[in-house]
Amino acid sequence: DDAGRHAAFEARVAADEFIEPKDWMPEAYRKTLIRQISQHAHSEIVGMLPEGNWLTRAPSLRRKAILLAKIQDECGHGLYLYAAAETLGVSRDEMTEALHAGRAKYSTIFNYPTLTWADIGAIGWLVDGAAILNQVPLQRTSYGPYARAMVRICKEESFHQRQGYESMMQLANGTPAQQRMAQDALDRWWWPSLMMFGPPDDNSPNSAQSMRWRIKRDTNDKLRQKFIDVTVPQAQALGLTIPDPDLKWNPARESYDYGAIDWAEFYAVVRGEGPVAKDRIKARIDAWESQSWVREAAMAHEAKRQNKAA
Ligand code: ACO
Repeated sequence: DDAGRHAAFEARVAADEFIEPKDWMPEAYRKTLIRQISQHAHSEIVGMLPEGNWLTRAPSLRRKAILLAKIQDECGHGLYLYAAAETLGVSRDEMTEALHAGRAKYSTIFNYPTLTWADIGAIGWLVDGAAILNQVPLQRTSYGPYARAMVRICKEESFHQRQGYESMMQLANGTPAQQRMAQDALDRWWWPSLMMFGPPDDNSPNSAQSMRWRIKRDTNDKLRQKFIDVTVPQAQALGLTIPDPDLKWNPARESYDYGAIDWAEFYAVVRGEGPVAKDRIKARIDAWESQSWVREAAMAHEAKRQNKAA
């Protein structure tokens, strides 16, 4: 009966077993996963856009090759995640349609413009750095296909973070103009990176249930604090200043205290009012429409192949 299946499900989650696509699961668990995994997939795909803007302007062949590889990785991450979400009974087309219609969210971070080349380094260092901290625990998320997708994603994110830091290092050790560019990028990306972790725990409607179901393994605030604690020494090593006058080591907590985050800005960006939100969605829709011939050709090829086999 339903109560029995429910209890068995809860027991498996509590024992840290993976739940697999054909296993029974509560409807709310399925819905939460579709929400989180599809948002995550959309973030990877929309995240290609701010970097794509710099492909033709990368300062050297080496940087261009790295950037190209990174953007292709993000596309792959989107594909693994869409595939994981599909195992929950939602179609790729439904998810795409929800993104284009503005019904599905994607990370706030991708609604900010990339103004200089240093932004590409800062994104690798900070945005991918934040993504890793959020995603490493998700390798142990309770839904098997999501957890397994995370394993490869985390390996690639780690390369992304390192190339970003290395690029920042070169700017930070460069000419005064390059150093100013690096500092300016940190100034603009720092606070939005902290917002990637989501609202504070006492204002995070989904956290409690997602933690109980072990979909999330750490809370938003805990991961945000961890990110700050690992990133501050990295900024110091670059000789750059984190744009937070209240940032201060707290020996009792063995962590950094930090200043107030502008949550009004966060919620405005979540509502779709980010600085370049309209351009991002327009770019996605344009790509979807102008490349429909690729999908049609693939479908026609598959139909021919099946005909032949028959
Ligand atoms: N950007 C956009 N929306 C956000 C963000 C953000 N940075 N943070 C929270 N939200 C949304 C949530 O999706 C939720 O809205 P919903 O109920 O309509 O889905 C609402 O704000 C309230 O937040 P929470 O209750 O804290 O939501 P949740 O428990 O899902 O936690 C979090 C949010 C931490 C982002 C979680 O979903 C998660 O870990 N997702 C996987 C990682 C991910 O998506 N990363 C994408 C960026 S990194 C990258 O791809 C490079």
